[in-house]
Amino acid sequence: MDNPIYDFFTKDHRRLESILENAIVDINNINLELYHDFRVGILTHIKMEEKILFVAAQRANNNVPLPMAAQLRLEHGCITSFMVLTPNASILKILKHVLTIHDEMEEKNGGMYEACEALTKEQTAEILTQLQNTTLVPVHPFNDSDFALEVAKRSLTRAGYNYDTILAG
Ligand SMILES: [Fe+2]
Ligand SMILES: [Fe+2]
Repeated sequence: MDNPIYDFFTKDHRRLESILENAIVDINNINLELYHDFRVGILTHIKMEEKILFVAAQRANNNVPLPMAAQLRLEHGCITSFMVLTPNASILKILKHVLTIHDEMEEKNGGMYEACEALTKEQTAEILTQLQNTTLVPVHPFNDSDFALEVAKRSLTRAGYNYDTILAG
């Protein structure tokens, strides 16, 4: 079976995982240049899902949001808010935990990508063109205020996770 949309996003997940792993080989001396590439890459990936794929799928679904969309959006918000913080062991543990569950929900059989691809079969070429033309999301310098951390923790809670539980796991 030919699943270009599924392949496009799944390949991007693997690409981003590998950038992240390379950035944090030495957790005490994180490669911030690579981590910058990860931030730009993941935020751009989220933009492609939220602004192109999920929108096209919902339109093709008589404007009814797909069942998984709400949870995935909450997790996008959460991932985005963690991208604001300077990475450290705790932040990275949270991030990897959420990303693993998140990517699986998108990639699994019967997951979001499969559902979106099935709904948009008529527009695959058009969607791929839009994806390829997506501009990179600019990132701001880190913000390590208590407020930024609180925002991130709250977005994690909203997505159904608990900061302390993940760290203790
Ligand atoms: Fe996503
Ligand atoms: Fe994704």
